Amino acid sequence: MRLRVGYSGFAGKPSSTNHQKREYFFASSLALGFSESMSSVKSVVELSEVDKSFPRGEGSVSVLKGISFSINEGESVAVVGPSGSGKSTLLNIVGTLDQPSSGTVMIDGVNVSSMDELALADFRNQRLGFIFQSHHLLPQCTVLENVLVPTLASRDPRIRGSAIERAPGLLKRVGLDHRMDHRPGQLSGGECQRVAVVRALINNPKLLLADEPTGALDRQSAEALSELLLELNREDGVTLIVVTHSLDLAGKMKRTLELQDGALPNDRNA
Ligand SMILES: Nc1ncnc2c1ncn2[C@@H]1O[C@H](COP(=O)(O)OP(=O)(O)OP(=O)(O)O)[C@@H](O)[C@H]1O
Ligand SMILES: [Mg+2]
Repeated sequence: MRLRVGYSGFAGKPSSTNHQKREYFFASSLALGFSESMSSVKSVVELSEVDKSFPRGEGSVSVLKGISFSINEGESVAVVGPSGSGKSTLLNIVGTLDQPSSGTVMIDGVNVSSMDELALADFRNQRLGFIFQSHHLLPQCTVLENVLVPTLASRDPRIRGSAIERAPGLLKRVGLDHRMDHRPGQLSGGECQRVAVVRALINNPKLLLADEPTGALDRQSAEALSELLLELNREDGVTLIVVTHSLDLAGKMKRTLELQDGALPNDRNA
């Protein structure tokens, strides 16, 4: 809405009549408002000169090299690249599961490298959701218990209470409300992955990180899961970063970061 008004308003040229001058002033203000609103778009992920090395043998191997980019609230981003190019390593760093060897990582405006492990665990739990290639559901727990696992660590009973209230609705959204009492062994791979999506959403995260979420699924289940992720991005404004080898899934994201040997040589939006 704001975009349409700002754009059409700015289309008119200044003119000498008072009426038109007023119009021009009004249009310019709207356009200014528009550019301000553009500049106030919030960045959810900001990486600056991130390097990551792992020890190997006597020395170390450099896996990420000078990675810088930022991702705004509500964006959908695919991370692609050959096997071993550093996609999962990058996602783990964005998800605060791993630390960079050097460089800065800001998530939702917070410099996460300055946080201690306990604060980081809370932060991760409240603002980030993870979906992995293999769903990692607990086989002995029911669907409902599995989606509530991320709330167990919360020290605030209200968070757990509201998650218990939200869980059936979220499960309904992925078509699994009638399977709440089933265990993962009684579900298909696609159904397990949908439970994993609900588990990732249970704490209402701002940022959803998925590493090969459709990798273990048949074509139909993969398409259904892609649609679900995109719907969450479109309708709930969840910022989405998906690591994938699937050109189909990558093509559905608004932006692509292509890792080549640990670097991002072609990211025009970085
Ligand atoms: N904990 C670790 N210790 C040592 N080396 C590691 C570690 N984690 C990753 N690596 C190395 O970093 C490189 C990148 O791994 P990463 O898992 O990020 O690749 P990827 O792009 O996700 O690959 P794939 O598409 O196969 O999942 C690989 O050479 C891997 O062996
Ligand atoms: Mg990987």
